[in-house]
Amino acid sequence: MIEIENITKRYGDEEVVKDVSFVVEPRTITAVVGTSGSGKTTLLRMINRLVEPTSGVIKLDGRDNRDVPAYELRRHIGYAIQGNGLFPHRTVAQNIATVPDLLGWDKARIAARVGELLELFQLDPATFGPRYPRELSGGQQQRVGVARALAAEPNVLLMDEPFGALDPVIRAKAQEDILAINKRFGTTIILVTHDMEEAILLGDRIAVMDEGKLIQYATPAQILKKPATPFVETLVGAGDRAFRLLSLNQIRDAVEPGTAKGPALPAAATQRDALAELLWSGREALPVEADGKRIGRVTVQGLVKRAARPA
Ligand SMILES: Nc1ncnc2c1ncn2[C@@H]1O[C@H](COP(=O)(O)OP(=O)(O)OP(=O)(O)O)[C@@H](O)[C@H]1O
Ligand SMILES: [Mg+2]
Repeated sequence: MIEIENITKRYGDEEVVKDVSFVVEPRTITAVVGTSGSGKTTLLRMINRLVEPTSGVIKLDGRDNRDVPAYELRRHIGYAIQGNGLFPHRTVAQNIATVPDLLGWDKARIAARVGELLELFQLDPATFGPRYPRELSGGQQQRVGVARALAAEPNVLLMDEPFGALDPVIRAKAQEDILAINKRFGTTIILVTHDMEEAILLGDRIAVMDEGKLIQYATPAQILKKPATPFVETLVGAGDRAFRLLSLNQIRDAVEPGTAKGPALPAAATQRDALAELLWSGREALPVEADGKRIGRVTVQGLVKRAARPA
C-alpha cells in the first residue's frame, strides 16, 4: 500500500504539487492524468525519493519512505522514466541488468532474469540482448525500458508516460503487457499518462491532476459518471453528447479574438482536436489559421465551456 499524505513540493516560490493525498492499494493500477506541467512526474519521483517533498509524508506499507534504505527502495520500486532513459553505451542486456547488478545478484541469476524479461516482451534474447539501444526501434526501446524497471522483481512499478511515442498498434500491445504484468506478478503500478482513454483502460483508479492539485481520485466508472469538475469532464469526454459535439464542430466556430503563441491550428480541424492539442501542449490558448492567415485563437476555457454548455 502506498499512502500519499498532504504532499507539497515547492521550487522557489512556485508550488508545483499542492497538498496531494491519496492511497494506492496493493496489486492495483493507478493512472495519473493531467496536462503538461501539472506535477505528475514530480509526484511520481517523490514516491521513490528522487525528489524530496517540501512537506507531507509518503508511506510504503506503513513505513515513511524516508526510513527505507536506498537499496530497498531500488529493489522494491521499479521506475520506467519519461522517454526510455536507456544507457546508450550499454547493451540491452546490460541495461536490463542495471539494478540486479547494483544489488549484487550473481551472474547466472542475472542472465536468467534478463532472458526471461526479453521473452516476456517478445524480444529474442540472442538477437536483442547484445544490441545497443540505438539499434532498436522506438517501440522496442520502450519495452526494454519497462523490462529494466521490472528486473529486480519490484512489487511497485512507477511508469512515466511509457507509451508516449508508440504507434497505436504497438501501444495497444504495450498496454496489454502492463495489464498482464499486474495480473501475473501482482505488481502495484502507478502510471503517468496524458491520455484519459489509456487511464480508463488501464487504471483501477485514476488520479486527475491540474496545476499541482489533485482534482479527482476515483475509479474510471466514477469519473465517467461523475466528473468532479468541468475540466475532468472535458478530459474524459464521458462519451456524452457535449463532448461528441466538440468532434463534430470545427475550430472556426470557436475562434475568439486575440493572438496566442505556438503552432497555429487549422480552422477546419475539429474542436476536439483543438482541445487535445491544448491539453497536450499545456497551453491556455493557441492561434488559429485559415487560408494561411491568423484569424484569432482558441482557448481551453472557451472549449471547456462549449463542451459543458453546448450552444
Ligand atoms: N527541478 C525543478 N526545478 C524547478 N521547477 C521544476 C523542477 N522540476 C519540475 N519543475 C516544474 O514543476 C512543474 C511540474 O513539472 P512536472 O515535470 O512534474 O510536470 P508533468 O505533469 O510531469 O508534465 P509533463 O506532462 O509535461 O511531463 C513544471 O512547471 C516544471 O517546470
Ligand atoms: Mg512529466
